[in-house]
Amino acid sequence: MGELRFDGRVVIITGAGAGLGRTYALLFGSRGAKVVVNDLGGGRHGEGKSSKAADDVVAEIKRNGGIAVADYNSVVEGEKIIKTALDNFGRVDVLVNNAGILRDKSFPRISNVDWDLIQDVHLKGSFKTTQAAFTLFKKQGYGRIIMTTSNSGLYGNFGQANYSAAKLGLVGLANTIAIEGAKYNIHCNCIAPTAASRLTEDILPPDIFNELKPEFIAPVVAYLCHESCQENGSVIESGAGWAGKCHLIRSNGALLRSNMVDAVTIEKVRDSWSKIINMENGQHFNKPSDATMALVSALESIREGVKNDVNDDDVNVCD
Ligand code: NAI
Repeated sequence: MGELRFDGRVVIITGAGAGLGRTYALLFGSRGAKVVVNDLGGGRHGEGKSSKAADDVVAEIKRNGGIAVADYNSVVEGEKIIKTALDNFGRVDVLVNNAGILRDKSFPRISNVDWDLIQDVHLKGSFKTTQAAFTLFKKQGYGRIIMTTSNSGLYGNFGQANYSAAKLGLVGLANTIAIEGAKYNIHCNCIAPTAASRLTEDILPPDIFNELKPEFIAPVVAYLCHESCQENGSVIESGAGWAGKCHLIRSNGALLRSNMVDAVTIEKVRDSWSKIINMENGQHFNKPSDATMALVSALESIREGVKNDVNDDDVNVCD
């Protein structure tokens, strides 16, 4: 099996002037892609701007013999970034939504500005940029999209309610884009990275920080963006030279009524609780219709009249 290359492909990476995005840009550039290095060059909390961050990465790619162009727009005007790609390279094949900032505060202290800035950069920025790219992808029958989520979104994290909300919002966005894009060979996946960068320098302990090189994650992102990769609609967690898929599972649950005339009561919910939350043999659904089918099958059981003694462990409705 040969080297995986991106010759002829145009790859846009947002927030590529530093951290993870810079590493992605260098890797794609070294594998033949024409790279749009987007970065508005602001501070960690979204303040200021400068062309230096993007320019430096473009210069580095060119020094290594690659092809790249800088773009300084904010992702909230994502359509302008797509235009930069079209003006310079005439097409777009891959979009990595990576730009990000933090406005960490404990939940009661989050201001409207802290909330809006985070939703704008992460969620709206990815929406705007991806929507402009999606239209092109659909016409050409090809596209690869990455959303950048976070363990803070997947699992929650003290002081990051605004960021967690945006980051899990991106998983929802990716889930639906993956469904809408599938028939056009447009794939959309999420990366949940853990890497040493200015966003994590005061969060991660130093001995761990030093082992979390963004270079360990870039190949995972690049593989997801290759034409040979068939993954779609997945969340891949990665860091420290490890990668794994992460997805929601749902318990088998419990029937809360035993026939069509039976009422659901608070007490039945209480008495069924251990079964409702028992994640043993949890199920994963790839599409909402799978969840609907499971509900239809629960309804069938109720219609047929199940023996629904909530204390009876033999009752298992969704098998
Ligand atoms: P970083 O701060 O080193 O890089 C982010 C880049 O995005 C910066 O160069 C910044 O100028 C740029 N940027 C910010 N707002 C922008 C905007 N509106 N338009 C264009 N560019 C903008 O951070 P890092 O760690 O490399 O983060 C990259 C992504 O990975 C972010 O989305 C972050 O939330 C996410 N992430 C990072 C983790 C980590 O462990 N480093 C953990 C989980 C998620």
